[in-house]
Amino acid sequence: MKLELQGITKVFGPLVANDQIDLVVEPGQIHALLGENGAGKSTLMNVLYGIYQPDAGRILIDGEPVTFNGPGQAVAAGIGMVHQHFMLVPVFTVAESVALGYEPTDAGIINKKKAAEKVKELSARFGFDLNPDAVIEDLPVGVQQRVEIIKALSRDAKVLILDEPTAVLTPQETDELIAIMKELKASGTSIVFITHKLREIRAVADTITVIRRGKVVGEATPDASEKELAALMVGRPVDLGVAKEEKAPGATVLAFDDVTVIEDNGQVVLDHVSFDVRAGEILCIAGVQGNGQTELCEAILGSTRPTGGHVTIDGHDLTDSTIKHRLRQGLGYVPEDRAKDGMIASFSVAENMILDVYDQPPFATGISMHPQAVIENAEKLRKIFDVRVTSVLDPISTLSGGNQQKAILARELSRPIKTLVAAQPTRGLDVGSIEFVHQSIVEQRDSGTAVLVVSTELDEVEALADRIAVMYRGRIVGIVPPDTPRDILGLMMAGVPYDEARTAGKEVRS
Ligand SMILES: Nc1ncnc2c1ncn2[C@@H]1O[C@H](COP(=O)(O)OP(=O)(O)O)[C@@H](O)[C@H]1O
Ligand SMILES: [Mg+2]
Repeated sequence: MKLELQGITKVFGPLVANDQIDLVVEPGQIHALLGENGAGKSTLMNVLYGIYQPDAGRILIDGEPVTFNGPGQAVAAGIGMVHQHFMLVPVFTVAESVALGYEPTDAGIINKKKAAEKVKELSARFGFDLNPDAVIEDLPVGVQQRVEIIKALSRDAKVLILDEPTAVLTPQETDELIAIMKELKASGTSIVFITHKLREIRAVADTITVIRRGKVVGEATPDASEKELAALMVGRPVDLGVAKEEKAPGATVLAFDDVTVIEDNGQVVLDHVSFDVRAGEILCIAGVQGNGQTELCEAILGSTRPTGGHVTIDGHDLTDSTIKHRLRQGLGYVPEDRAKDGMIASFSVAENMILDVYDQPPFATGISMHPQAVIENAEKLRKIFDVRVTSVLDPISTLSGGNQQKAILARELSRPIKTLVAAQPTRGLDVGSIEFVHQSIVEQRDSGTAVLVVSTELDEVEALADRIAVMYRGRIVGIVPPDTPRDILGLMMAGVPYDEARTAGKEVRS
């Protein structure tokens, strides 16, 4: 089936999210839609899927104009969509999830048996190994995504829309998804693949359409270089590395001394962890997700209390102090889960930019608040940190993920800090924003702040680190120089001590 979008326009109030977009998806092709966060990709797909009605433009299938008044009609026309944020119900089984939304059967009930058969048939075809009776919330995110794909395919999707499918996947799961996409293509399904990751696009796309600020700004083929694609996406030449000079660090600012955290169930999540971060240096914590990094950050912030050991900032023992006290002691904190810990979704962007200092001058004196100062502060930060927002008085929840992250970073870097903790600072961000966030972190280091970055991305660790601490099962396996080869880091991430990893690494390389 050939799909055409012609002149699609979609506005939200004053914002033109899609501005006369033309897109042709040829049968059996993987068509990549590349664009920064907030470019309008999801909006366009929601129009195609019947969730939004376009303000102008039309959709054609095999040359015939069609109108979708809801996803049901899009599905009936052969369009399937796996949303950026999955829409599965956590307590349902796989079969129930797939059955949900089917046309009611004669009896008016969901046909679970038919769904279970479809699950078996389709997972056998794609080698998914999905149990129809498994409960969604027990499944890893990568497997939940396969349930979404099967759900779309079980409705005979001829065009499958995948909206940022790899954002939640490990590198290995991403490779598996790419293999699935190739298989789908071979069986005649077209795919609209949305991403901002250039490597993936080049691995799988037949055609690339780049959109920026709601407009199509170019078409490309997968042989275009990452630099070319990045420039097209961002609208200016992008430096894919980070400019960072050698700097001599100062005195210790943040220190962990033999910190242990034991959970209520007896599980040791931090196991005698010691390290220090000095003024003007970036210590990166590398490791596979789930090896204690989250708890380590929480122990710095104070949302988790150590069972043993001490956390000090600038010589002050803060092991037992409140979160607020730590923030006032000069701790800047960019959390891993920004939607949960970094902001208050219903508050405005401006209010979120002063969350930690709302009761202090210039935003308040005594009990009187100064709203004008709050707005002025937000307007200033919005310019410096390039936060794309229609109005700083809009709720922060209306911003794209990348812009939310920039708003939080703006807040944390705009007050006087001595220590910056940034957990997965660029997760889910596009190239332009990553470059910006990395530069901001390096600038912070250069101004003398002690910086701790936690990242599961080795690219990021290599770009930022002055020293690398590798974590495995709640322990620091070793602290190594930034130019340590990847194979050695990889072995350490599996728990092999540095000396052994070095010997093994030499064998691997020779
Ligand atoms: N329901 C909505 N109401 C108002 N603004 C929206 C809505 N959905 C998206 N937007 C805005 O439209 C723009 C495009 O968003 P989106 O399509 O989600 O971008 P992308 O998927 O490329 O990251 C953004 O500025 C976003 O804030
Ligand atoms: Mg999106």
